Amino acid sequence: MSDQTPVCRRLVGRTAVITGAGSGIGLATARRLASEGAHVVVADIDESTGKAAAEEVGGLFVKVDVTDQEQVEAVFRTAHDTYGAVDIAFNNAGISPPEDDSILTTGLDAWKRVQEVNLTSVYLCCKAALPYMRAQGRGSIINTASFVAVMGAATSQISYTASKGGVLSMSRELGVQFAREGIRVNALCPGPVNTPLLKELFAKDPERAARRLVHVPVGRFAEPEEIAAAVAFLASDDSSFVNAAEFLVDGGIAGAYVTPM
Ligand SMILES: NC(=O)c1ccc[n+]([C@@H]2O[C@H](COP(=O)([O-])OP(=O)(O)OC[C@H]3O[C@@H](n4cnc5c(N)ncnc54)[C@H](O)[C@@H]3O)[C@@H](O)[C@H]2O)c1
Repeated sequence: MSDQTPVCRRLVGRTAVITGAGSGIGLATARRLASEGAHVVVADIDESTGKAAAEEVGGLFVKVDVTDQEQVEAVFRTAHDTYGAVDIAFNNAGISPPEDDSILTTGLDAWKRVQEVNLTSVYLCCKAALPYMRAQGRGSIINTASFVAVMGAATSQISYTASKGGVLSMSRELGVQFAREGIRVNALCPGPVNTPLLKELFAKDPERAARRLVHVPVGRFAEPEEIAAAVAFLASDDSSFVNAAEFLVDGGIAGAYVTPM
């Protein structure tokens, strides 16, 4: 960080649970929220990356499979028991496996697995976080959806897209239901981000990446830190009137018809 970089300390004393914090957007967000003063609970299925992330940010690692209700409940219980609160839940873990493709070729097993990890997990995390937030009378839940929740693609990943649509609708409904209890729930909709998840998908097929890049007005994919900055805003009181939102951080993709040459 250069001397000129303003230091934001909006989350001092707040406790944040981040699922999928061992990699990509989750890892960048763990770093950002910790730098703003939050206690960070790193929840991930991958023990080695999760532990490394927790160590780096001075937080706590809890191993979790986000599709397992008891394990998810244990994450939020541990956060509360350790730090005395659950102020921020960034429900972010997700997968995008190659078996999930066109509806014509995607089998039921692949469909169900993606629904479990991307959508059922968000239901379980919100269900586990809300009792703590209701008791506190405050909280910010940020659920990672995607820009594909609001736009169609001919390059389909049918279950992924449907799962993110579900995350978007669920977040909106929860944001409305719990608004008068001091709890905000927003759906974060990132555009394509340079993370292992995306790199893995495009490494085998550069044409696939190029076909997508042409639709991004800013002409590049996002860096994870740019998404983390949006999460920090949604987590903090700076976004106190942002609720039940479809929070696009997509470099203008969803607003574009013709992009610059
Ligand atoms: N990368 C993109 O372009 C992009 C765009 C829009 C939305 N998203 C969404 O952002 C979120 C994070 O994606 P990313 O790109 O950082 O991915 P990533 O693969 O870099 O990180 C995902 C993390 O989730 C963890 N995880 C996977 N399955 C899990 C499970 N069952 N239980 C617990 N942890 C599990 C992984 O171990 C990993 O650490 C996902 O929900 C993804 O769909 C990504």
